[in-house]
Amino acid sequence: MDSLLDFTDKTILITGAGSGFGAALSCALAARGATLILADINAAGLDETVATVKAFGTEVAMLVGNVADELHAKALVDLAQNQFGRLDFAVNNAGVAPNMAPIHQTLSEVLDLQLNVNVKGVAFGMKYQLPAITEAGGGAILNVSSMAGIGGAPMASSYAAAKHAVIGLTKTGACEFGGKNVRVNAICPFFSQTPMVLESDAIKSGTVEEANSKLAQGCPMKRIAELDEIVNVMVMMLSPQNTYMNGVAIAVDGGMSAM
Ligand SMILES: NC(=O)c1ccc[n+]([C@@H]2O[C@H](COP(=O)([O-])OP(=O)(O)OC[C@H]3O[C@@H](n4cnc5c(N)ncnc54)[C@H](O)[C@@H]3O)[C@@H](O)[C@H]2O)c1
Repeated sequence: MDSLLDFTDKTILITGAGSGFGAALSCALAARGATLILADINAAGLDETVATVKAFGTEVAMLVGNVADELHAKALVDLAQNQFGRLDFAVNNAGVAPNMAPIHQTLSEVLDLQLNVNVKGVAFGMKYQLPAITEAGGGAILNVSSMAGIGGAPMASSYAAAKHAVIGLTKTGACEFGGKNVRVNAICPFFSQTPMVLESDAIKSGTVEEANSKLAQGCPMKRIAELDEIVNVMVMMLSPQNTYMNGVAIAVDGGMSAM
């Protein structure tokens, strides 16, 4: 296998592995030799991903839990170290979708959910992952932000606030741990074909054609992303040979941010 994409002997933790990007990334990394620690709050989705990656002969451990719970974040890193002896990479991907409402109608519970899952989930993850990856001699963390982490997101202010915070955590982790050979980066996808979008209120019928016409209007490529178009960039950002990219938030957006 090309060493750029060879994850043999790398132990990788992925949250939100039961669906969408997390499930597809688990398969992409399993196919490239990784050992996986997979987590999700959705036990059925997680079971399905675990069964799929086992077909690659992958060594895998799993834990059901809520990323907003600090004890779950610690338990995941303990699991990696106890079962596989090390943690090399982590992908803080679990997240909840925006509730669509204008900023002047923000509900306290919506803001709480966004800050708990999308912010604390990343912050607690990094709290335990960074020392463990340092102990393993270095590696990388990839946090999943969004285009809503780079610019305003009309009708999704709480989500935008949370995804901007993910970039703040990413850059701070990169500054604090870069000298310890741990790279911390964020990916910022535009709308993509995952259940979060296809089953959202905005696209109730769930067809890609409707998603493209409703969501991709201002996008130079005139379509939302296919799942693999985001996951392939995640793999490239995690590559063991991508050794000098640190502290960046990369837009994968069909040219939206070029407008
Ligand atoms: N799909 C998109 O268009 C898009 C665009 C930009 C960013 N994102 C981000 O990508 C990430 C993955 O989303 P996706 O599109 O694959 O959606 P998805 O809904 O298919 O997957 C999200 C996964 O996270 C899990 N999850 C939710 N809350 C959790 C919690 N509290 N604890 C543990 N697990 C939890 C869900 O069970 C699910 O398996 C999210 O952070 C999302 O905000 C998605």
